Amino acid sequence: MLLGIDLGTTRTLVAAADRGNFPVVGFLDDDGELHEHLPSVVAAVDGRLVYGLDAVAAARDGAPVVRSFKRLLASPAVHGDQPVRIGDVEVPLSSLLTGFVVAVRDAVLHKSNAPRKKNDPALTAAVAVPAHAHAAQRFLTLEAFKRAGFDVKAMLHEPSAAGLEYTHRQPQSLSSKRTRVIVYDLGGGTFDASLVRVDGFHHEVVGSAGLNQLGGDDFDDALLSCALAQKKLDRAALSATTLDALREACRAAKERLTAQAKKVALDFSEQGHGEVSVTVDAFHAAAAPLVEQTLAAMQPLLGELDGDPMADVAGVYLVGGASGLPLVPRLLKERFGRRVFRSPYPAGSTAIGLAIAVSNEVGFTLKDRFSRCLGVFRERDAGRGLRFDTIFDPKRTLPPTGESITVARRYRARHNVGHFRYVECSRVDGAGDPVGDVVPVGDILFPFDAALRDQTSLVDVTVQRTDAGPEVEESYRIDPAGLVAVTITDLARGYTRAYTLGSG
Ligand SMILES: Nc1ncnc2c1ncn2[C@@H]1O[C@H](COP(=O)(O)OP(=O)(O)OP(=O)(O)O)[C@@H](O)[C@H]1O
Ligand SMILES: [Mg+2]
Repeated sequence: MLLGIDLGTTRTLVAAADRGNFPVVGFLDDDGELHEHLPSVVAAVDGRLVYGLDAVAAARDGAPVVRSFKRLLASPAVHGDQPVRIGDVEVPLSSLLTGFVVAVRDAVLHKSNAPRKKNDPALTAAVAVPAHAHAAQRFLTLEAFKRAGFDVKAMLHEPSAAGLEYTHRQPQSLSSKRTRVIVYDLGGGTFDASLVRVDGFHHEVVGSAGLNQLGGDDFDDALLSCALAQKKLDRAALSATTLDALREACRAAKERLTAQAKKVALDFSEQGHGEVSVTVDAFHAAAAPLVEQTLAAMQPLLGELDGDPMADVAGVYLVGGASGLPLVPRLLKERFGRRVFRSPYPAGSTAIGLAIAVSNEVGFTLKDRFSRCLGVFRERDAGRGLRFDTIFDPKRTLPPTGESITVARRYRARHNVGHFRYVECSRVDGAGDPVGDVVPVGDILFPFDAALRDQTSLVDVTVQRTDAGPEVEESYRIDPAGLVAVTITDLARGYTRAYTLGSG
């Protein structure tokens, strides 16, 4: 089976590649109803974890749940061993993720309408991460799919996949003059925007911008704040289960909101807090700043367009479930005019684009970018200070499937131990320092002094300067998923160590 799997913060969607068609896979619940997504939810039932539709059913019966666990991946300190508590059950984050992906696999195989070929047990998938995902986020996502038995052919950036879906669906909107598309992807937990240049079947991501921690969940929270203020309820006094139920009520009401609505009616009576009606004006006042944040985050992309920023643009393509809030297209149309299109499948666009990527039938190609900065802190002024040395910048193109790009640097080591502190960030400021979403992605100690090489740990070794250090090569190999492997070698002795950044 060839699948595009969009592991979302709130919803996981799967699209299949089936003889030139890319249908979104439907999943059956226990009542025989078909759903076009699996909720990205885990619940604990009698000490056991259940996922997806089963987890939502369990939550309705009062089981403890964790939603939006993908958001944990975006945290700068994320680690696969990090414990996650679901009621009385505690599991490492990597096991939770793998458990969820296994549940997705089983649902596709046994409880879905996915087109199946006889005698084809292979599960081949293209998966995605937010465009600004840092190394650990990429690593943990990829690992979960591999451990769950998927042959992962590609890991794309979510908005890049949506860009493929756009040209598949709207090829007529592109012309020789208007060759660019801005993909605006507002999901449950993340916002990404990418500027894609399209030339026939060839897609090139010119740049991308985003907010790793802003999405539909925040709009739910904004609505909840309005409701709590009106009810004079103190958030801190409510239990986690009650808050979860109230937030879910807000999410459902938000999703039903039409462009004409004047009020949002919320029913909190099951939680003992009666009914409350929030005016749409009050909700919009709380939500508009969130949309403004997305517009501000997109600003650097518009700078990529020469002259009249919109002259080359065929469309601003709205995808992601949260772009369904009428306020979002309204504010975008105020900013960009008529060329704002909403995907007919806003929540399925990424999964469909991934299915297009995994199939060989359409012949689309994609050239993407690293989209963040990777660098290492090096000592300067004989150890009196640190300098940030950029290894890959956001514009660095990623290699095509099956290939890699390596850059290397050579120098004579000046210390007994090399201490490499790798950091990813949005950009480097005028003073050369990393800024914006600064995330440590690796802290490596390398024994330049051969006498230290059989020590199990170098943590307690005092770093000393030396004039007798070996000639060293650092090499950085970047793969199509944007993961970077570091190899440090003592060239004279051929002694080498390798690390994957973000692997913990
Ligand atoms: N009609 C609607 N109006 C407003 N919001 C909606 C609507 N339908 C869905 N949403 C919101 O869209 C969000 C989910 O969107 P989507 O499925 O694209 O996100 P995701 O893929 O789970 O998250 P991410 O891409 O950030 O990881 C939720 O916050 C949901 O409440
Ligand atoms: Mg998404």
